[in-house]
Amino acid sequence: MEEVVPEREERWDDEVTNDEQRWDDEDSERPPAGPVAEDDPSSSQAAGDVPSSTPPADERIDVDPEARVSSEVGPTAPVAEASAGPSAAATVAEVAEPASEGPERFMPRDLLAPSRHEVVVERVEEETPVKHADVIAFANQKGGVAKTTTTLNLAVAFAESGYKVLCIDLDPQGNLTMSQGIDPDKVEKSLYDVLVNDMPISEIIVEREIDIAVASIDLAGAEIAMSTKIGRERSLEKALKEVSGYYDFVCIDTPPSLGLLTINALTAANKVIVPVQCEYLSMRGLVQLQNTLKMIQENLNPDVKIEGILPTMLDARTVHAKEAVEILEENFGDLVFKSRIRKAIKFAEAPVKGASVLKYDSGSSAANYYRELAKEVLANNESAQ
Ligand SMILES: Nc1ncnc2c1ncn2[C@@H]1O[C@H](COP(=O)(O)OP(=O)(O)OP(=O)(O)O)[C@@H](O)[C@H]1O
Ligand SMILES: [Mg+2]
Repeated sequence: MEEVVPEREERWDDEVTNDEQRWDDEDSERPPAGPVAEDDPSSSQAAGDVPSSTPPADERIDVDPEARVSSEVGPTAPVAEASAGPSAAATVAEVAEPASEGPERFMPRDLLAPSRHEVVVERVEEETPVKHADVIAFANQKGGVAKTTTTLNLAVAFAESGYKVLCIDLDPQGNLTMSQGIDPDKVEKSLYDVLVNDMPISEIIVEREIDIAVASIDLAGAEIAMSTKIGRERSLEKALKEVSGYYDFVCIDTPPSLGLLTINALTAANKVIVPVQCEYLSMRGLVQLQNTLKMIQENLNPDVKIEGILPTMLDARTVHAKEAVEILEENFGDLVFKSRIRKAIKFAEAPVKGASVLKYDSGSSAANYYRELAKEVLANNESAQ
């Protein structure tokens, strides 16, 4: 027996070679080579015995009867499909075709009672992702540099151009709230409730020239009340998720400090605009602001970046103001906006009327300074996309 095996193997090799040559001559009649036909010596022998005509399917392919039965029963017979010649493949195709068109497959929806279908449809619509607002924080720990003035007037300039804008008054002084004619002392629900008690932000938004999430005097106690809260730096970011789909811009006014309220603003924002009064002393604090921003980028919000440094209250008649702008440009280059906000008495007058300068004196050059700034920010947005 031991001698028979090598002889048989040798003969089979020869037969395969001859067989291949013969089929090469008669390409059109050659059945496709399947794995079983190549591996199974008996099928090769059968092919070698009948070289001149296509052998009957049963002889040509040694399909195990059980496998053949299963291939006829349903489409899920990979062995039969892989090894079968033309006739067997046709059988599989014939069986497989009705399965693809045939009885419908159950979808997860079919498992619900019909009365629940509408609920499912509603939920899918709600979850459809919508636009995400550009969130801009206006920050500088130095006081009186026109953070609030810039937040409101730039926001109204965006709104004039057709954008939906939300302003957030994160300063316990409540100057932004007052600038829209709302008394912070009479506000019942404010950002304090949002940041400390997780109240939905939509409950404290008031409609004015723009929508505004209002401050009240008790916001002064928010930093201490939040200090023991887990995730205290992210309270505003979390609250904004509710509404960021409805607005194009969210503009956050911050207090003149780098405390927890300002950190919340910088964590929620993707851009920071830094108003700087055109005076030497005002510019010294910028390094400290940059360090705080670096700390936020490393630990809380890697995406936040300075959109621009805005020279404000520029008195173009003085040499000092011109020199201050030059120093800014030398140190911060392209980060300094091209727009300039010059000094104008209208900026002090408008809040008394509870209005932005754009509403208080729409045709004034003071109003146009912020329209120019809005164009520059929008152009930067477009070139960044
Ligand atoms: N371009 C300007 N010309 C003249 N006055 C201005 C100008 N911009 C702002 N002001 C006035 O300067 C004062 C300070 O401005 P604003 O309140 O906007 O600064 P701020 O940085 O928000 O101050 P704070 O740090 O106290 O919050 C206000 O009385 C405002 O009306
Ligand atoms: Mg302010």
